[in-house]
Amino acid sequence: MTDENAIAAAAATLKTIVGLDDKNAKDLATKPERVEDLLALFAKYNVGECAAREVKVMLYNVWTKVKSADHRDVVARYILNHKLNTTQKVDAAIRFVNGLKDSHVDGSALEAECGVGVHLSKETVGNLVQKALLKEDPQSLKTAWDKNPNMLLGTMRRFTELRWAEVDDIKAALDELVPGLIAGVQVKVQPKKVVAPTAPTADKDIPQCPRNDKYLEVAQGRPRTPIGDLAQHAEHSCVYICGWAHRVRHQSRMSFVVLRDGSGFVQCVFDGATEPFHRESAIAIRGTIKAEPKARAELQPPLEVHVEEYAIIGGSDGSIETIVTAESSIDKLLDQRHLVLRGTITSSVMKVRHEILRALREHMWAKRYYEVTPPTLVQTQCEGGSTLFEFLYYGETAYLTQSSQLYLETCNASLGNVFCVLPSFRAEKSKTKRHLSEYTHFEVEYDVCTFEDMLNNLEDMICSLFDTVVARAGELVALVNPSQLIDPNGSKTDPKNYKLCPKRPFRRLPYADAIKFCNEHGIINPETGADFKFGEDITDQPERAMVALMGEIVFMTHFPAEMKSFYMQRDPKDNTLTESVDVLAPGVGEIVGGSMRMYNYAELMEAYKRENLDPTTYYWYTELRKFGGAPHGGFGLGIERLIVWMLDLDSVKEACLFPRYMGRCKP
Ligand code: 4AD
Repeated sequence: MTDENAIAAAAATLKTIVGLDDKNAKDLATKPERVEDLLALFAKYNVGECAAREVKVMLYNVWTKVKSADHRDVVARYILNHKLNTTQKVDAAIRFVNGLKDSHVDGSALEAECGVGVHLSKETVGNLVQKALLKEDPQSLKTAWDKNPNMLLGTMRRFTELRWAEVDDIKAALDELVPGLIAGVQVKVQPKKVVAPTAPTADKDIPQCPRNDKYLEVAQGRPRTPIGDLAQHAEHSCVYICGWAHRVRHQSRMSFVVLRDGSGFVQCVFDGATEPFHRESAIAIRGTIKAEPKARAELQPPLEVHVEEYAIIGGSDGSIETIVTAESSIDKLLDQRHLVLRGTITSSVMKVRHEILRALREHMWAKRYYEVTPPTLVQTQCEGGSTLFEFLYYGETAYLTQSSQLYLETCNASLGNVFCVLPSFRAEKSKTKRHLSEYTHFEVEYDVCTFEDMLNNLEDMICSLFDTVVARAGELVALVNPSQLIDPNGSKTDPKNYKLCPKRPFRRLPYADAIKFCNEHGIINPETGADFKFGEDITDQPERAMVALMGEIVFMTHFPAEMKSFYMQRDPKDNTLTESVDVLAPGVGEIVGGSMRMYNYAELMEAYKRENLDPTTYYWYTELRKFGGAPHGGFGLGIERLIVWMLDLDSVKEACLFPRYMGRCKP
């Protein structure tokens, strides 16, 4: 016989004698010594083709999970004399013997631990369930039942007396008893017949993968396992998962589906025909975990879930295949953003965004800074009139906030250092890769500090943010931005393996030196077509060119006062300059803007006059200088720009859920 024929013959034997499914049989058949060992075990106990399938599966589980041959023999004997007669009891026995330090097995301890000899009739189960239910408060019972009947199943399983009861019997008793108890009536137990799941309509000759129309029944009382946690479960354990069909491959007798929930992706194998559901259908599955190195793929663990029963919770229209394609234009993709968000890359970007916000908040909380939530509907401007969104607020002029900074300053005297994470709005009349009309603004305000303190804190925050995000979500960062890895096969969670890992101390570049740098490196002012002159704004494009040449994060400082906002503190060494900073990152340019704030009352009044601002609307801000003004400062970080830097995205539009920019306010 050729090798291939030998493998096919071994697979057939494993299927008939051992009762393995196609896949397990084929996998095992490629390892002749293992096949021999397994068949020897079955021969030793005279277990042939005609033995009950459950017994064969139990023995197979013992063979795969029990390491010691002596222990294996003991458990096998208990199975064959039907003392261990449910998967639950066998699993308990496997755990018991695997926990022993030597080959001796104390039979009575095993029997006590594994429910040997315990048989609970349906009626007993009903009575025990009734007893357990009566201990529950009827109101909590009702709440739990209305929310999810399976929660009660979990509660029942915690009753020691019900430990070895059949799940279906407990379920049947709950179905009988709970509605009556909730209504204040106790009913006698009438164990319900367990109805077999309805078979899908299809060709009778093709084996069908079991399907159930009621998705809650698929769980059989198991809690839902997040897909991302599957790798922590033992092989062969039975789990209940729900998610969306991310990729679907149907064959006549088998389907392979990558199922996705927020926590991860996993390959599910449907053995037998399924109804031909489409990608993005919502599906509930009860299945068994099998190790499968070949299943390892981008964000997928090396395991499969072999489906025992499934339900389509919500079908998906076949048109899903044509709505978004590789050829779709950017506008079309943005119109379909609600679907694009389900993609591997876009959902990864959103997860990294979450980790960024989490890490920033944690960094602030660790320093015991207070998070506050200033209003976003305001009547003052913070960053110049040209980008204000104005609207009529009950007959008065109001604006969508450009920055929460002024309000953060009001909190310093009561809460100390504070921060906020809120939307800011800018009526930007440009559609560049870094401008949104609404963006998420992370702003910090220090109550008393020097400019140097502020820069050091900022440097600290950026470095710790990078380290934390890479440690927690490096797989995702590397998936979206693979070219940043120094060693593509090295650790994705080690910040040192990332080219963009910020190096301390950050380069500090006064504005005057930045002008010189541009002129020395041939970066011209696109507005004038000539070299930059002191006092000119280094706009988006030359700014990015400059940082690209530097190849690292830069603190650009000391901007001339006339280029910056009214509230900025002057440089004590040169009154024409401000104590201000823009943090510039390669690929995107400015990601943070910050400064020290004027804290002298008279100086601030002068600044309003110069900028033509009506001081009466700012009375609450000015008065901070009247009642205990202190040297202080802070900064604002644009979350979307930070994400563009970290993930090397093409635009800030890809870094938020539903981007808002000139010309787009939908969906
Ligand atoms: O430099 P900006 O205008 O500074 C302020 O608003 C200060 N009041 C913040 C403070 O000190 N609390 O904006 C701060 C950051 C920018 O560096 C940029 O990252 C982001 O906000 N940003 C934008 N992000 C996306 N789209 C826009 N249109 C943005 N405008 C600013």
